[in-house]
Amino acid sequence: MSNQVLLFDTTLRDGEQALAASLTVKEKLQIAMALERLGVDIIEAGFPVSSPGDFESVRTIASHITQSRVCGLARALEKDIDACGQALSIAEQFRIHTFIATSEIHVNDKLRMSNDDVLDMAVKAIKHARKYTDDVEFSSEDAGRTDIDFLCRIVEAAINAGATTINIPDTVGYTTPTEFGGIIKTLFNRVPNIDKAIVSVHCHNDLGLAVANSLAAVENGARQIECTINGIGERAGNCALEEIAMIMKTREALLGYHTNIKTTEISRTSKLVSQLCNMPVQANKAIVGANAFSHSSGIHQDGVLKAQNTYEIMTPESVGINKNSLNLTSRSGRHVIKHRMHELGYKDNDYDMDRLYADFLQLADKKGQVFDYDLEALVFFDQNKQEQAFYKLQYLHANSGHNIVPTATVTLKMGEIEATEAATGVGPVDAAFNAILNASGLTNIDIVDFKLDSKGEGADALAQVSLIAEYKGRKFNGIGLATDIVEAGVNALTYVLNNTYLADQIDQQKQQQKIAGI
Ligand code: KIV
Ligand code: ZN
Repeated sequence: MSNQVLLFDTTLRDGEQALAASLTVKEKLQIAMALERLGVDIIEAGFPVSSPGDFESVRTIASHITQSRVCGLARALEKDIDACGQALSIAEQFRIHTFIATSEIHVNDKLRMSNDDVLDMAVKAIKHARKYTDDVEFSSEDAGRTDIDFLCRIVEAAINAGATTINIPDTVGYTTPTEFGGIIKTLFNRVPNIDKAIVSVHCHNDLGLAVANSLAAVENGARQIECTINGIGERAGNCALEEIAMIMKTREALLGYHTNIKTTEISRTSKLVSQLCNMPVQANKAIVGANAFSHSSGIHQDGVLKAQNTYEIMTPESVGINKNSLNLTSRSGRHVIKHRMHELGYKDNDYDMDRLYADFLQLADKKGQVFDYDLEALVFFDQNKQEQAFYKLQYLHANSGHNIVPTATVTLKMGEIEATEAATGVGPVDAAFNAILNASGLTNIDIVDFKLDSKGEGADALAQVSLIAEYKGRKFNGIGLATDIVEAGVNALTYVLNNTYLADQIDQQKQQQKIAGI
């Protein structure tokens, strides 16, 4: 048996389904491209039947990604599988992942079916999926709590029906490593055709055991792990990709397994997912937390200075964390910026040099010194700039202080027209938001979450505002960056306005197609 372990990333499906606000097609594509750069073997891009937006995202990702295999999720239903096939068929090779629950609790209380009917549906679904592709994955939902005899029976039937990957999820994160490893071992011992498929696992983290359970499964024969960046996913999340990849790299001599992950891309991918998903990473999170490589105690600091491996089992550089050593100023030329971007792991076509340099000069004028984290933030915001944005901020003036009523005046461009509005609020951000909403006429937008972060260090750090806003019963993300907190907030709100505008347009198109019978 090969020691290669495939990593199947489900950040865009299991991860995304747990977010407060769904990602736009562009944001999902950006994450998919980062996953491809990271070396992920299979990208689960979404659940196409679930919404027109998800269908569009899966289709867009399938048309751009060439190195990783793109996959879509489908219940064991023809209409789900057809939606997957239609969304993915734009790619040369793709995977359809179909699933049905198999535990007694789910079969009796959720599906209200018999085991025989469940098995029958699984077999029919797999055969139907094989009409679209020869790469079909079958998942036995809640396998961790499924009767082992039935699990063996359905796995054997699924392989006979044409499934090439068999996924064993611990859907509710209930099992322990010995127990879960034992399930995988039993499948290898009892299912006669098990060698005809790759055995995969999908572990949730309700008891904090997702990574340990996945590793135990590999030690018992599984060769695909389903995981997400930063471990995001339903409830307590899924097995964290960065943890499993670094376990296999750091302990390769002991374990003997390897993955295709380019570990130096880990930090960058983690930050991108955290920012776009509006999901901060806890400071003490393994591998990608802000403190994962920082040493606080004097004894530790002394040890690391004498020999790094006294307290570091892996280097920050191995996961792509760069020391903020070189600072750049407005006197730094384009070639210096380009050189630094190379050192940070960016290729020339990952960013637009003209725009980056213009933004860099503006920032250098304001801050004096520009650090690596500033450059990374500028690239991120440039990539997320809404180029054909309908709403654009033209002017902002905010006033606040002790014993004065906070006020703000804004001018907002909307397509070809402009509106200027002034408003008051409980603070300058609130006043500016009121002015923006009045100017846009979208007073039915509710801000349900507002987060302020600093990008970088010190009082001159860039301010990043992340918003979740509700509009017509749906939630939208917004993100804004500036040296000024109020401006960062207004940028985030303008981002939200543009996303609501795009969503309204997609809805209108769908409506027109419906009327025209398309
Ligand atoms: O947790 C789970 O069981 C799932 C399946 C759809 C694979 O996410
Ligand atoms: Zn799951």
